[in-house]
Amino acid sequence: MDIERIRSRFPGLDGGTILLENAGGSQVPQSVADAIRDHLLHDYCQLGAGYPASDRATATVELAHRFMNRYVNGEGIGHVVLGSSCTSLMHVLAGSVGRTLRAGDEIVVCEQGHEANIGCWTDLERLGAVIHWWKVDPETGMLDPEDLREILSDRTRIVAFPHASNLLGEIVDVPAITRMVHDAGGRVVVDGVAYAPHRAIDVRSWDVDFYAWSTYKVYGPHMGALFGRSEAFEDLRGPNHFFIADDDLPYKYELGGASHEGCAGLCALGGYLGELAGSPVDSADECGTDIVQRAFERMKELEEPVQVRLMDRLAGHSAIRIVGPASSDVDRRVATVSFIHSERSPVEIVASAHASGVGIRHGHMYAHRLCTAMGIDPDPGVVRISAVHYNTISEIDHLMDALDPLLSGRSAGIS
Ligand SMILES: Cc1ncc(COP(=O)(O)O)c(C=O)c1O
Repeated sequence: MDIERIRSRFPGLDGGTILLENAGGSQVPQSVADAIRDHLLHDYCQLGAGYPASDRATATVELAHRFMNRYVNGEGIGHVVLGSSCTSLMHVLAGSVGRTLRAGDEIVVCEQGHEANIGCWTDLERLGAVIHWWKVDPETGMLDPEDLREILSDRTRIVAFPHASNLLGEIVDVPAITRMVHDAGGRVVVDGVAYAPHRAIDVRSWDVDFYAWSTYKVYGPHMGALFGRSEAFEDLRGPNHFFIADDDLPYKYELGGASHEGCAGLCALGGYLGELAGSPVDSADECGTDIVQRAFERMKELEEPVQVRLMDRLAGHSAIRIVGPASSDVDRRVATVSFIHSERSPVEIVASAHASGVGIRHGHMYAHRLCTAMGIDPDPGVVRISAVHYNTISEIDHLMDALDPLLSGRSAGIS
């Protein structure tokens, strides 16, 4: 599918603003919006009551879970829990670890992370957990696996870290870190939110225990999803009511259930991925892991030249410091790019982008601890530009043509 057809699937791209703030949230295809509307208008009933509309709603919610599990290549090895956001699911997970905490259990949190995968774990200190910090290099923000090795022990219960930082855009070697943690006897909780919009998730080959992402950043409705391996869930006690069995998965972890209309939207995503992969499907049940993986390969192909153009244009400004890798290598980073400028404030730069009709943002992006570790004032933080597969080189050029005078200092006489 070419870029024009892809863009025509996303009505939100026609709203008059160029959207380069996709790390905050993506647009949805028309088909996802239609499925949500149809569900609300025709099947909006409680589950499991046994009348036709209730049966249809039940089938939709079950299909969404099945599809999301297949989507991450988790069929047969685990379950996907759906919730309102990644943050809320991480809190559910940490609470479930807390309910089974043993004296001296150690938890490793990562300075590079979004707060969603930090605060819920450090909270367990009050229950007796020993917290260790996997710190970043203050210059680059990068993680060194050898630093992790030094803090792992036979008491390590959980290592919580991001697959990609939502500020740096750098891809972390999840399989290698997972192997290291497993060798020490611990389990990994990977925050895949910043990675998932760009590449396919493969929980099976990476061997991860828990992996979370936000569906609203991956062309779907405003929900979060958490994959967990069956044996990893067995260590825990989920929070749902006492009369719901511990092995009633994923329901034991879905307080109040998942958004039904959101589930309808998630199912419709299968159709879009099928189109992208060149393998049209009539139902999410026909959208296998291979189709999802091919769809994301296509996204990577589309994203690469956009990412390269953005990095090239930013590299033309000596006053800019890229916060994260300066590389445009798609195996090293995703198209989420942050920077600061030696003379211009993030507020000013973002205001100038907005005035030219481009949506970007500045801030710490809830990677507050990372900013602090790198000596960046969390407020105003960094300028972040984030593209996904539906963005184009001409959108990058429009933004950079507008920002060039400011970034080069020409408009203010900065030499
Ligand atoms: C890397 C990362 N992790 C976690 C989150 C939190 O996700 P949610 O909004 O679904 O709670 C975000 C949100 O921006 C994020 O970028």
